Order: sequence, then C-alpha cells, then structure tokens
Amino acid sequence: MPPLPSELAYVPFVSVQHMMNLVHHLGIETVLRALADEIEADFKRWEMFDKTPRVASHSEVGVIELMPTSDGEMYGFKYVNGHPKNTREGLQTVTAFGLLADVNTGYPKLLSEMTLLTALRTAATSAMAARHLAPKDASTMAMIGNGAQSEFQCLAFKAICGIDTVRLYDTDPAATAKAARNLVGHGLDVIPCTSAEDCIEGAQMITTCTADKQNATILTDNMIGPGVHINAIGGDCPGKTELHRDILMRSSIFVEYPEQTWVEGEIQQLDRTHPITELWQVIAGHATGRTSPTQITLFDSVGFAIEDFSALRYVEGAIKGTEFFTMLDMLADPDDPRDLFGMLQRSTA
Ligand SMILES: NC(=O)c1ccc[n+]([C@@H]2O[C@H](COP(=O)([O-])OP(=O)(O)OC[C@H]3O[C@@H](n4cnc5c(N)ncnc54)[C@H](O)[C@@H]3O)[C@@H](O)[C@H]2O)c1
Repeated sequence: MPPLPSELAYVPFVSVQHMMNLVHHLGIETVLRALADEIEADFKRWEMFDKTPRVASHSEVGVIELMPTSDGEMYGFKYVNGHPKNTREGLQTVTAFGLLADVNTGYPKLLSEMTLLTALRTAATSAMAARHLAPKDASTMAMIGNGAQSEFQCLAFKAICGIDTVRLYDTDPAATAKAARNLVGHGLDVIPCTSAEDCIEGAQMITTCTADKQNATILTDNMIGPGVHINAIGGDCPGKTELHRDILMRSSIFVEYPEQTWVEGEIQQLDRTHPITELWQVIAGHATGRTSPTQITLFDSVGFAIEDFSALRYVEGAIKGTEFFTMLDMLADPDDPRDLFGMLQRSTA
C-alpha cells in the first residue's frame, strides 16, 4: 500500500453540488449581497491588481477564455467559454471553473466550479454597478434575454438595488416561461412580455442578457427614454453587441477594464476617443456616476478577472468550517522537494 499523499498535496475543491449546497445554506440573496460587497471592495483597490485583457481563443462557434489577475498576495484565474449555439444542442452557453493560488509559494489554495459562481458574480457586479449609476428610486427592471443568467440578475437587483418588479422578454417564449416559473416565491412581481418594446415599458433599469454570435440590435435608440440605466451584459466578444450605436452616443458609458471593453464591449462600435468612465473610479470617488435624473447611464459589462478573483476569495472564506468542499490530491509533494522522480519510482499502481 503506497503512503498517503502529504497534507500539502491537498487542495480544497468546491464541486457544483457543493456550490449549490453553499448557496442554499446561506440563501441566494445573502450570497449575492456578500459578493457585491467583495467585488466593490476590490474595485476600490483596483490599482493594486495586475490587470490584462483576458486571453481569448475564438472559433466560428464560440470563444474559450482565460481570465487571470493578482493582488500581489493571491493569484486567480478563470477558464470560461461562450458558445451561443450550445443551447440548441442541449449544452450551456457559458461554463467555467477557476483557481486561487498563494503568490508567495505559487501553491493552489482553492479549485472551484465557476459556472454557477459566474452567474452569481455577474449578477452581483451588475447590481453593484447599478447601485452607483441607476436612478435611486428604480423599482422595475426589464430583463431581456431569459436564459441561464437571467434569474440571477433579477434576484441581485432585488437584493442589492431593492427592485420589486421584473418584466421579462426573450425571443423564445419557453425561456420567459422558465424564468417566470423559477422566480415564483422570490418576492418579485414578474411580468412576462411579448416584445422588447412591451418589456421596457415603465422600467427604470434595462438589462440585456442575450446570446448571439453577431452584432444584434436588442434595443434601438427610440426605445430609450431619459433617466434610464442600461445594464448591457450579453455583448462581450468582438463582433457581438446588443445596443444600437445611437444609444451609446446618448449615454454616459461606464466600463470595467477599457483595454478589454474596447475590443469586446458595446463600445467596440465607437471611436476610441469617445469618453468613457472606468467604474472603479466612480466607486473609489475619483469620478462621478449619475449626475442628473435625465441622464442615460450604461454599464457596458463584459466581465473582468477581478470580479472572479473576488468571487473565488469569497468562496474560500465561506466554505471554512463547512462540509461544502472536498480535498483533492492535486499537488505532487515529494518528501525531498527535488526527488519528484523518486516519488514516482517508489509509487506502485
Ligand atoms: N458580462 C458578463 O460578465 C457576462 C457573464 C456571463 C455571461 N455573459 C453573456 O451573457 C449572455 C447570456 O448568457 P446566458 O448564459 O444567459 O445565455 P443563454 O444562452 O442561456 O441565454 C440567452 C438567451 O437570450 C435569448 N435571445 C437571443 N437573442 C435574443 C433577442 N434578440 N432578444 C431577446 N432574447 C434573445 C435566447 O433565446 C436565450 O434564452 C451571453 O452572451 C454571455 O456571453 C456576460
């Protein structure tokens, strides 16, 4: 019988089942609020992070991306894909997993599923941004695109921004019916709609979260009245946008990391001299967010590595003292650090 791996070999692993158990244990709105606070705190210390646009490998049908960052103490990365055609094949558009590591040793500290965690962190980031940008009395959100991310978005805007009503629209009525069903009992008035125009009626906030591998026009200029906050989630790849360019021309635009958003966000439609504001600057008090009740604010979200780092660090803390992880024998740890081969040689099948 070969010796058991040393303690250093083990890395906590949060499976999909663990993540679901953790969210149920804590309550989804508690998790969303906590994630928003973690992400906001990290946006406040934005300058401390290593930042780089994500490394994207595009194909004709989708994209596979690596999203790394570090605050000097911890390093994190996420593997994530985006394949809009996948749902037609019974697969998800977005799946993900990620890792946190200790910068001092380079040893991994956490491996986690991130498909659920991405939906949670995206929703928490959206609502956190809206907390700074949306009209203060906003109570109704239009949710266009009722796929995997949509219920998470609705609940984050309830938990973090205090909305009480969501209006749902998707080109596929089955997706709207699914979202409406899932939102029953969560304390929101849910209004299914049959067109994008109907959906935005009376909404102070509009979230677009559609998946299409091309430039789409989910919202046209004539649909957007003064004072609205737009949370644009689905345009997040080169050649994949959701808003008509004229809306951008009338909006105050807030982005995560400009180097990435110019390539992937709605602003890929604009000249690079067009004024944009980095969201972290608003959060840190260096720039203004909403300045008037008639201003149209747009959070041109593509998703940035720091949000995943914050989410992983939150999970690392949240699982401590719980059963919501297993230890994986993930790291070869020979007794003599230089005798890796000897470790292999002495082991038996
Ligand atoms: N910004 C971020 O941080 C972030 C994070 C995660 C996902 N995303 C993006 O969000 C989008 C949605 O992700 P998902 O996992 O919910 O995808 P999904 O495939 O599960 O859902 C997308 C929905 O959009 C609907 N749709 C497509 N075209 C439409 C249109 N013209 N009008 C209305 N509805 C339309 C589809 O019918 C589908 O129900 C994707 O594009 C994904 O890349 C962004």
